[in-house]
Amino acid sequence: MSTTDPAGTRPGTEHARAEHAAAERPGAERPADERPAAELRGVSQVFGDFTAVDGIDLSIRRGALTTLLGPSGCGKTTTLRMLAGYSAPTNGTILIDGDDMTRTPPEKRGLGMVFQSYALFPHLSVAENVGYGLKLRRVPADERARRVAETLDLVGLGHLAASKPKKLSGGQQQRVALARAIAIRPKLLLLDEPLSNLDARLRVQMRAEIRRIQGETGLTVVLVTHDQDEALEMSDDMVLMRAGRIMQQGAPQSVFPSPANRFVADFLGYENFVSAADGTSLTVRPEHLVVEPTAGGAGRAAAPAAAGLHLPGTVTDVAYRGVDLLVTVAAIDASGARVRLVSDVRATGTSSLAPGDDAVVTAPQSRLVALAD
Ligand SMILES: Nc1ncnc2c1ncn2[C@@H]1O[C@H](COP(=O)(O)OP(=O)(O)O)[C@@H](O)[C@H]1O
Ligand SMILES: [Mg+2]
Repeated sequence: MSTTDPAGTRPGTEHARAEHAAAERPGAERPADERPAAELRGVSQVFGDFTAVDGIDLSIRRGALTTLLGPSGCGKTTTLRMLAGYSAPTNGTILIDGDDMTRTPPEKRGLGMVFQSYALFPHLSVAENVGYGLKLRRVPADERARRVAETLDLVGLGHLAASKPKKLSGGQQQRVALARAIAIRPKLLLLDEPLSNLDARLRVQMRAEIRRIQGETGLTVVLVTHDQDEALEMSDDMVLMRAGRIMQQGAPQSVFPSPANRFVADFLGYENFVSAADGTSLTVRPEHLVVEPTAGGAGRAAAPAAAGLHLPGTVTDVAYRGVDLLVTVAAIDASGARVRLVSDVRATGTSSLAPGDDAVVTAPQSRLVALAD
């Protein structure tokens, strides 16, 4: 399996990005390639008596950016390594472009990979680093030079082609590592926490940068992260993992408003959890909770809404945070449990509430999310 293009099929004058896109994007040659770029079927990885990945089924959408998201140790890297071919699954099947590659070695899978520690070759120039995979694949020198230039242009480092990696900033080195993985025109680009060594600001910039590169090339990307903000911002599809299993998957816009269970809700930053009268576990975003003073004890708050959440309680904290204000209320939910509810009040920056005040917390039925467990 080679990612090398047949000689002479690519006129040298074409614009690099459009060309790369045409080479990789579904539909370039066929009308539409709806097949998944990769599939895991019943894939497990067992180390001794520990099951790191527990029979997962996963379909990687072609031309999309899929993130594997979950806490440390949930099996994200193990999954990516099996996809890349660095470790064979204990059970299950891995398909790439519809071909069974479960036992195919990494170099024959045609994939690009960037790890957290994106070791560049220190003695090679930036251009030589980026061309390394092409050289291994015996791409002729002129074709190689052209592709290196295109790829460096894509990541915005054309002007540093002759530099040695140690002269580059962390962010620039990260781009070189990306370029090196992209230059071979991989079927899949696998990124394992590629931004975690960068400082916070650069990390946020690189999220957009990777999205742009993915959009311009049409590459299928699988990115591992433990950062929910990163996953929400970057994903077309996000896959939430816990203890080797998939808890929920889908577009961020569908997963975030409807976490399937307490774990997912917790992981996505929900913090208000209450039991309803029928024992159902519910959550609600802080920005959807309204806290009002129980005016004189007999005001409007005394009339519960026909549906939705309505809990009397006591304000325990009012925190001013610039753009918003957090009001925390202690209450007793329908199961009799003590709960702590946080309401996020945007923009006004003031509240008539103070710690110790009696208050009522409400949310409309439409804002309540029922959790499976
Ligand atoms: N080669 C190995 N031998 C034994 N246990 C391993 C090995 N690789 C990973 N693990 C264990 O499998 C679990 C999942 O690891 P990993 O996939 O690296 O998690 P993540 O990337 O989500 O943080 C962890 O508990 C880890 O300690
Ligand atoms: Mg990991």
